[in-house]
Amino acid sequence: MRLVFIGPPGAGKGTQCKRLVELLNIPHLSTGEMLRAVKKQDSALSRWVASHIDSGKLAPDHLVMRIVAQKLASDECENGALFDGFPRTLIQAQLLDDHLAETGLVLDMALELKVKEEELIQRILKRAQVDGRADDNYETIRERLNVFNTQTAPLTEYYASQGKLETVDGMQSPDKVFEDIRACVARHQRT
Ligand code: AP5
Ligand code: MG
Repeated sequence: MRLVFIGPPGAGKGTQCKRLVELLNIPHLSTGEMLRAVKKQDSALSRWVASHIDSGKLAPDHLVMRIVAQKLASDECENGALFDGFPRTLIQAQLLDDHLAETGLVLDMALELKVKEEELIQRILKRAQVDGRADDNYETIRERLNVFNTQTAPLTEYYASQGKLETVDGMQSPDKVFEDIRACVARHQRT
């Protein structure tokens, strides 16, 4: 199964993907994690990537698609993948569709996690006390939310028009959210 997770910062994409990895036995492809790994290197590219993600702006579409395409080419992605935080723009969604079509693969489902803004901010500020992610501060969270609302939220219509969209209430407990996601997965799983 190939599944795209759409949700604002702090919605629980990473939390739920970790659980789904075990259920579906397919790899978790988080573009945020991939870009943070690039950021740790010492190069002109890594400083450029850092300047984007540390301010809450999106990394360029073609760069992200290139990184994802490299992962998709590996054997571990043969039976599917969980895309966490990718695509994040309509251009990325089209690039992914084109890439999958070229390689004879399909996307099965897009899962939207819905959570209220006040809750998102609380979750991320709480996580900031333990994780120390450079983009987990109030000012950058506001920018990430703004970027989500303007550039990423329109993807729900894109996937709804393909009949692939499912929406889950992310305000519930992690266990309940997972239960709902499992039901959605069961509806879209090809046998
Ligand atoms: P990314 O790493 O994807 O971050 P994000 O989208 O801002 O989301 P988070 O990782 O903060 O939240 P999450 O939804 O994973 O929630 P989590 O499970 O951790 O992206 C970072 C940056 O990289 C972007 O801003 C951009 O610059 C760049 N980037 C990434 N992808 C890109 C792309 N495709 N194109 C261009 N640029 C890209 O949960 C959050 C907290 O809440 C945790 O502490 C968790 O324990 C808790 N929690 C989870 N679920 C619940 C629940 N149900 N109830 C209570 N608490 C919960
Ligand atoms: Mg995450």
